[in-house]
Parts: sequence; structure tokens; C-alpha cells
Amino acid sequence: MENFKFYSPTDFVFGKNAENEVGSLLKMQHATKVFIHFGGGSVVRSGLLGRIEAQLKLNHIDYVILGGVKPNPLDTLVYEGISICKKEKVDFVLAVGGGSAIDSAKAVAAGAKYDGDFWDFYDGKASIEDALPVGVVLTIPAAGSEASMSSVITKTDGMLKRGIGSRFYRPLFAVMNPELTYTLPAYQTSAGIVDMMSHIFERYLTKSTGVDLTDRLSEATLISIMDAARVIQKDSKNYDARATICWAGTIAHNGILAVGRIEDWSTHALEHELSALYDVTHGAGLAVMFPAYMKYTLEEDVNRYYQLATRVFGVTPNETKKRMVALSGISKLEEFYHEIGMPLTFNEIGAKKEDIDILLEKLKINRGDRFGSFKVLTLDDARKIYELACY
Ligand code: NZQ
Ligand code: ZN
Repeated sequence: MENFKFYSPTDFVFGKNAENEVGSLLKMQHATKVFIHFGGGSVVRSGLLGRIEAQLKLNHIDYVILGGVKPNPLDTLVYEGISICKKEKVDFVLAVGGGSAIDSAKAVAAGAKYDGDFWDFYDGKASIEDALPVGVVLTIPAAGSEASMSSVITKTDGMLKRGIGSRFYRPLFAVMNPELTYTLPAYQTSAGIVDMMSHIFERYLTKSTGVDLTDRLSEATLISIMDAARVIQKDSKNYDARATICWAGTIAHNGILAVGRIEDWSTHALEHELSALYDVTHGAGLAVMFPAYMKYTLEEDVNRYYQLATRVFGVTPNETKKRMVALSGISKLEEFYHEIGMPLTFNEIGAKKEDIDILLEKLKINRGDRFGSFKVLTLDDARKIYELACY
């Protein structure tokens, strides 16, 4: 097991009507002027935003609002948010929505306390030394941003999608009511499921040894996610299944499954280029890229893939045919993604083989010539993985 530090300050309020506690949570944080940030309107249509505003009014907390965060959030709205926060002397940032609203809110929180261009943080030119505190009301279990230290923003100029991590980006509270996820379109529910599973795979595929505890926690989480996903397929308002998916999304990415392991993240790097170029839903892009990555890196550690296949995907153990068993595990993953309506090929997400050179160019700008740790990938490896994902 590797040495580790794990910092997780988030106060979770989970369950039915959890959003009714937003007012008291903000009071506990001594918020006096709140910047509420949300996406394209789902929280307006569901009435959630109105309920949150009522909470703030009840608690005599002043606020300003900025909606309009797009999936794969853009820098342009972040600049707008920063200028509002500075002008209005905001002292707390509240994201209401999913990973996109939360990531945009985190960038605003850091930019509001910085005199330069917030993109400096995403460009690696500066590191975050201070930020406004962030709280979250989650509406889609997927990105895990409600407890993660990350934020992913796309720079419109050049459509560069970049993720960074900072301890200032850990939300101070996350309000999670699984019932708020009933209104999710089936495609978004499934994309979220793929994303959280991918967050586990990015850590599960490691060269670190002595990590049996986090291996088994990861395997249990993956199994629970798939079981709950199948229930939701038939009964989209099944509370316990929705609740399982909600909490699994957090566990998958708050870092608890990552402790003591070297993480990989190359499949996310490959996918972010698809999101940036085609504006594809992040989880859908991952459904296309992860099986391809797994097939390409199988020989890197057949035993690890064998373990995944036998413990998670129910493939019958056969010590003399480990490679075949490992491959069957990857096929089972593809079958599961297909079952929940996720794409498996470039074609299905509108990506084109002819664009691979463009994807690689951007990848080189964002990640350099070599990236990843389970297998250190060159750009030539990346090309082959994209090619595998074409069919
Ligand atoms: O924008 P609105 O109108 O709210 O609609 C959203 C959006 O269209 C809709 N939605 C959300 N909750 C809903 C709902 N529709 C109906 N009912 C609800 N309850 O769902 C769509 C997707 O929302 P989005 O916030 O984009 O989803 P997600 O949470 O998957 O976030 C994706 C973003 O997070 C980044 C991704 O790259 C992508 O940009 N990630 C962030 C990470 C992090 N910060 O730790 C890690 C991830 O790996 C990921 O990269
Ligand atoms: Zn992700």
C-alpha cells in the first residue's frame, strides 16, 4: 500500500427532503451573501430552485443567482460568475445541479479570490491559494464533484477541456436527496452510472500492491451500482436503488477508494477530448472508451483483469485460461453498458475515425507525450485505443 493523505471535509445531508436543510447549513457556515449557480433549467422546472430560495429567505440570507451552466461547462460563464461574486461581495458559493454546475461553481469560487485570470489555475500557471467556500445540492449522481477535489472546465478558445484538483475545491456540504433524481432522463441516469463506475476503474487498474481492502470495497461498490442500475431500468422511481446510486457516485470519487493506490486516469484523458470536440455526454464517452482501454491494456496485468472478471462480472474462474476469463469480464462490461442504453462505439456518439489526429493534437496539448500509470501511454498507444473504440 502506498503512503497517503486523505482530506474529506464534506458534511453530507442525505435522504428525502434533505434540501430543506440548506438554510441551516448555510447559517452554520456563516454565509451572508450566497452565489447560487445552476445549469440549463432542470432545477427551475422541478421547483427545486424555488424551494432553495425560500430557504434562504426564511433564514435572512441574501443571494444572487446565475444559471445557464452547460454540460461540459465553459469558461465564459465562469468569468461572468467571478465578476458577479466580486461586485456583490459574495461570501459563499452554492451549486445546485450536477457535475457541470458544481465544477463551474468551484472555478468561480477560486476566481473570485484571485486577481488574475482564473484559467491560470487550469493552465498550471498558478495554484489555488484561496477560494470562497462551496456547498452543493446534487441533482444527478455521476461526476462525484459533490465531494471531490476536482473541477473540469472547457476553454472556449481552442475548446480545451481541463481538470484540476485542489483541497479548496472540496465542498463543505453536500445535500443529496435521491428523489431529486427521479426526473433524470434515462440516458443521463445511465451516463452517470458509467461515469461513477469509470471513477472506480481508474483506481482499480493500478500497479500498487497490498491494496486488497480498497480492491474489495471497489468491487462491492461496482456490484451494488450494477444491481441498482438494473432495478432503475425497470422502476425509475425505486427509492432504494436511486439512493444506492446517489451514494455510490460519491464513494466512487471522494477518494476513499483511492487511498494507498497509484491512480491511472488515462481513460478520462482520452474521453475529455471526445467531450471537448463533439460535446458528447461525459459518461457516454467513457462507455465507448473504457472497454477499448481495457482490451488494449489487458496484457499489462492479466491477473488484475481476471480478478475483476471473476469477482465483479461473475465469470467462472479458470486458472489455466486467465486471459480468456479476463476478456470475458470486459465483454460482460460491454453487455452491461448496452443493457442500460449506453453507446459502445465512436459511431454511436457521432465521433469520426478521421478526427483521431485532431483528438491526438489536443491530447498532446493537455497531457503531453506520455500519460497514465497503469500503462504509461504514448500518443501512438492513444491512437490505437481510439481506433479500437471505432467499432
Ligand atoms: O443543465 P440542467 O438543465 O440542470 O440539465 C442537466 C444536464 O442537461 C440534466 N440534469 C441534471 N440533474 C437533473 C437533470 N435533468 C433532470 N432532472 C435532474 N434531476 O443532466 C444533464 C447533465 O448534467 P451535468 O451536470 O452535465 O452532469 P454530470 O454530473 O455528469 O457532470 C458532467 C461534467 O462533470 C465533469 C465532466 O467532465 C462533465 O463536464 N466531471 C467532473 C468531475 C469532478 N469535478 O470531480 C469528475 C468527472 O470525471 C467528470 O470529468
Ligand atoms: Zn468522470
